[in-house]
Amino acid sequence: METGLKGKRALVLGATRGLGFAIAKGLAAEGARVIVAGRTSDKSVAAAKAIGKGAVGHPCDTGQAAQVDALWNAVKHDFGGLDVLVLNSGGPPAGPARGVSSEDWRKQFEAMFVGLVRLADHALPGMIEQKFGRIIAIASSGVIQPIPNLAMSNAIRPALVGWCKSLSNEVAKDGVTVNLVLPGRIQTERVEEIDAANAKRTGKDVAAVRADALSRIPAGRYGEADEFAAAAVFLASAGASYISGSMIRVDGGAIASV
Ligand SMILES: NC(=O)c1ccc[n+]([C@@H]2O[C@H](COP(=O)([O-])OP(=O)(O)OC[C@H]3O[C@@H](n4cnc5c(N)ncnc54)[C@H](OP(=O)(O)O)[C@@H]3O)[C@@H](O)[C@H]2O)c1
Repeated sequence: METGLKGKRALVLGATRGLGFAIAKGLAAEGARVIVAGRTSDKSVAAAKAIGKGAVGHPCDTGQAAQVDALWNAVKHDFGGLDVLVLNSGGPPAGPARGVSSEDWRKQFEAMFVGLVRLADHALPGMIEQKFGRIIAIASSGVIQPIPNLAMSNAIRPALVGWCKSLSNEVAKDGVTVNLVLPGRIQTERVEEIDAANAKRTGKDVAAVRADALSRIPAGRYGEADEFAAAAVFLASAGASYISGSMIRVDGGAIASV
């Protein structure tokens, strides 16, 4: 399938490893010009180098407004604007709903919501003017079926869902689509960290925690980052022009409802 991504200008946040990295790699493989961003310059540049194909790296902690603005200045300098924006960041710590400090709630909300929206607000006027844009946000299966012991994620990510849906209605006539991709359990370092945290919490070993997780995934395995990225690359493509305000699950069937 012709994706129409050759020469398109793409920024992927949270892209030094895991899902963001796989999406950046997938977009670059389709000929997009890609900027990858993580919290440090070193890791961002190293990730861009690993992707090759002209990808460049710039630092941005999505929880720091000044860094979001600095990244936007770098994007304007490198590209002049954006065609594709992938909103991603690190996940919050595992834990229950009770006992999280107000300071921790604010810190995670800044990184997982406020900074992402701020960057999108920078990019949107240019997308609207050129009558083309693809905004793709990475959330979690937890927005449909809350995940045990991931209360911060379950609580904060729905804000991104509500914002994406609201925005999609506002910009649909301007050729800008806004969608979310929901990972179930995709094999990344983050998932290994979550399995380790669950093992510690329950007193089981990691293999038992993993076996328990696998028993709830109809596909019987964790997904691969490239399988997840394929959905995001499709949403960025020309062929996805009439898909907006939607959520695509990439979860091997794990969410129990249709
Ligand atoms: N993998 C899954 O199955 C799964 C399931 C549900 C939800 N999710 C969510 O999907 C997102 C990506 O998942 P992942 O598995 O790829 O996570 P990951 O392996 O932890 O990767 C997170 C990426 O985000 C960057 N990052 C972390 N904090 C950041 C910040 N404040 N500002 C900018 N970048 C930041 C990290 O780079 P640096 O360290 O270089 O900054 C890294 O590149 C996370 O929010 C995760 O919670 C993943």
